[in-house]
Amino acid sequence: MPGYVVDAIYLVTSVLFIVGIKMLSTPASAMRGNFISAIAMALAVGTTLATGEIVEYTSIAIAIVIGTVIGIVASYIVKMTQMPQMVAVYNGVGGLASCLVGVVEFYRNYGHLYPYLTAMIALTVLVGAVTFTGSMVAFLKLEEKLISGQPTLFPMQHWLNLALIAGIAGLGTALAVNPAYAPMLWILVGVSFLLGVLVVIPIGGADMPVVIALLNSYSGIAASLAGFVLSNNLLIITGALVGASGIFLSDTMCRGMNRSIWNVLFGGFGYVPMAAGGGPAAAAGQAGAVKSYSIEDAVNVLSSARSVIIVPGYGMAAGQAQHQVRDLAEVLDGMGVTVRYGIHPVAGRMPGHMNVLLAEANVPYDQLLEMDQINDDFKRTDVCIVVGANDVVNPAANTDPSSPIYGMPVLNAEQAKTVMVLKRSMNPGFAGIENALFLHDNTMMLFGDARATLTKLANALKRQ
Ligand code: TAP
Repeated sequence: MPGYVVDAIYLVTSVLFIVGIKMLSTPASAMRGNFISAIAMALAVGTTLATGEIVEYTSIAIAIVIGTVIGIVASYIVKMTQMPQMVAVYNGVGGLASCLVGVVEFYRNYGHLYPYLTAMIALTVLVGAVTFTGSMVAFLKLEEKLISGQPTLFPMQHWLNLALIAGIAGLGTALAVNPAYAPMLWILVGVSFLLGVLVVIPIGGADMPVVIALLNSYSGIAASLAGFVLSNNLLIITGALVGASGIFLSDTMCRGMNRSIWNVLFGGFGYVPMAAGGGPAAAAGQAGAVKSYSIEDAVNVLSSARSVIIVPGYGMAAGQAQHQVRDLAEVLDGMGVTVRYGIHPVAGRMPGHMNVLLAEANVPYDQLLEMDQINDDFKRTDVCIVVGANDVVNPAANTDPSSPIYGMPVLNAEQAKTVMVLKRSMNPGFAGIENALFLHDNTMMLFGDARATLTKLANALKRQ
């Protein structure tokens, strides 16, 4: 295929990717956006295979079959709550692939390497390797397997990382100047792998979604750098798109938590010194008297309500209660109650977590309102039903300057006439802190698994 035809198709593909990503920004067009992006990817792969530069198709066919099987199996067995882990693994292998491209290109061009190409190879190897091991640590921290979700902190940690970065810069420069000394490449690979581990272990498991978004960005940057090594325009553009999206995503998540990216990366958020004893759960357990209510009490309140705002949180995802939320909303709607949803930007554990789950349960999009759109309406609302949310409705974010989440924008759930909180215990949420909302006079605690409580509520209301 002539080069200008390949470039023209690559250009069309790039535009399709941009359109696809743009359409992912609202639930109404997200599925079409995903489809357009998939078409673009098929076009990109097909065109690359037809360029005539591929010398051997068998191994590519085997890789496509293996990748397809893994993708299909993963789409069935990975739960929605495990999505951050899955993204971490995908980012990691993407980074490893770029790293390997760098190594292969080093040896393919060995003997006639020039400084620009060697520098690009060194950067590709560095970013790809850091992405790989960093993503694997993020995955293990989220799974709480092998590595604790707690930040792992030790003295002089950041200085050690700085020394490694300085060492990598020296190695990369030396390699660019003297590419004949191949062992230097392998030292670079090893030190970069180590750096990936060391930059992620001091970060708490709960901050991993932000780290994963950042590593997603790194995987894009690594792919883009690999594009420079291979002189492939499409790889440069698509890698840059992923790199930029990941950075925007990390920034959006940090803003939603009112924290800087530096605080996430270096703050050791969520660190609980073992000597303190008891841990966050026990601290929350020391709260004052909590009033537990029955389903009948809740039904009595809901029977006379005219307006309800449902605030979903991580507990809805963990309990897979989205379908039961929709069922209850439909019952209330049938009683003439106006039902809307208040969606906090960082409710759950990944951006858009609540939107995706509620869309899966066929909740109408126009009932999902973002925090800024709905926050003034709580004071005019009869009942706010908090389904497995905690930090995103913690009034301490507005009132207590000593709180770790002070300044984080939160939903004004406490302003509703009655607040019903559906959770299993007094355990804290992600931030590991108490929530005074649970002690307010207008708060009714409905203890139990959200899914079971919602089912009981809907059934009891139907029987009325
Ligand atoms: P959280 O504050 O984490 O609280 C979730 C609550 O759900 C817990 O208190 C838990 O209490 C309850 N829960 C768990 N399983 C349940 C079940 N089966 N049924 C009923 N309740 C259940 O959640 P949130 O309010 O959504 O806040 C999200 C937090 O994650 C924020 O602090 C945010 O900064 C952080 N974060 C979010 C993101 C993104 S992008 N979404 C990224 C990084 C960090 P029990 O154990 O007592 O049931």
